[in-house]
Amino acid sequence: MNAMRDEWYPVALFSQLDRRDTMLMGENITVARVGADEAKVTASDGRALPVRLRYGHVWTSLGTPDHELFDIPEAADPERRLVEVGIVRVQCSPLRAVENFLDIAHFPFVHTDILGAEPHTEVANYKVEIREEGDEVWATQVKFYQPQAAKSASGGIDTDYMYRVPAPTCSVLYKSCPPRPGEWDVIALFVQPLTEEVCEVWPWMALFDDTSSMTDLIQFQQMIFLQDRSILENQIPARLPLDPGKEIPTRADMTSIAYRRWLKRHNYTYGAQLVAQ
Ligand SMILES: [Fe+2]
Repeated sequence: MNAMRDEWYPVALFSQLDRRDTMLMGENITVARVGADEAKVTASDGRALPVRLRYGHVWTSLGTPDHELFDIPEAADPERRLVEVGIVRVQCSPLRAVENFLDIAHFPFVHTDILGAEPHTEVANYKVEIREEGDEVWATQVKFYQPQAAKSASGGIDTDYMYRVPAPTCSVLYKSCPPRPGEWDVIALFVQPLTEEVCEVWPWMALFDDTSSMTDLIQFQQMIFLQDRSILENQIPARLPLDPGKEIPTRADMTSIAYRRWLKRHNYTYGAQLVAQ
C-alpha cells in the first residue's frame, strides 16, 4: 500500500467550516465542525478519521500516521500575521503542485515583474540536503532578485529563500522579510490530494507586515498562485516522474531532484509516474 495513506493532509479551513463534503486520495470524506474548537472527519464507510486542527486548517489521514503533523514554530509567534489564503483547485498531481512551489527558475517567466524579472534569470548556487533529523528536504542559501518580493516590499531586493518539505504534499518556504531585515516570512503550501491528478491547494502564511490589509495579503498570494495554476495544468506528463534517469539535472532543479528522491525512498507515490514494472 502506498505510504502516503499514513500521512496528514489539509482538508478544510477551520474558520470557514460548517460541513464540507470532499475527497482525499480518491475516497469521499465529510469534514464537519463540532462546536467552537473541534472538527470531525468521516470516511464514506462511516469510519471516524484522525483529526488535527493546526495552522488554521483541519488535517486528517486515511491511515494511521506514526508521527505527529510537522511543526511550524513561527505559527506561535504573536507578532506574525497568520494569513489563511483559502482554496485553489488545480487539475494537476499533488506532487507536481509541491514541485512547482520549490522551483525558483520560473519566477521571471511566470511571476514577471513580481517575483522575478529579466535579465535576472540566473539561479545562483545553493545547498540542498535531506536532513536525517526530522526526515525533511531542505534547500538553503537560495538567493534571487525580486522586483516585488511581498506585498510589504517597496522596490526590488535580493531575496533570500529557504525551502523545507516536511511531508509529501506540503512545503514551507522562508523568505527575507522586507520590513524586518534579518527575519523570515513564512509561506506554506498545503496540498490536499483529491485524486492522483487533481488537488486542492491551501496556501497559508505567517508574515511580519503591520500595514497591509488582510484582503490585500490574501489577494497578493492568490494572484501569484493563479499564475502558477496555468503552468501546472499543462505539465506533461500529468504525474510526477520519479525515475531519475529521465531528468537532465541543472542547478535550478536540484531541489526538485532531492524531493523526487525523497518521495521514492519513502514510497510516497500517489500522483507519481512510476517506471513500467
Ligand atoms: Fe510560482
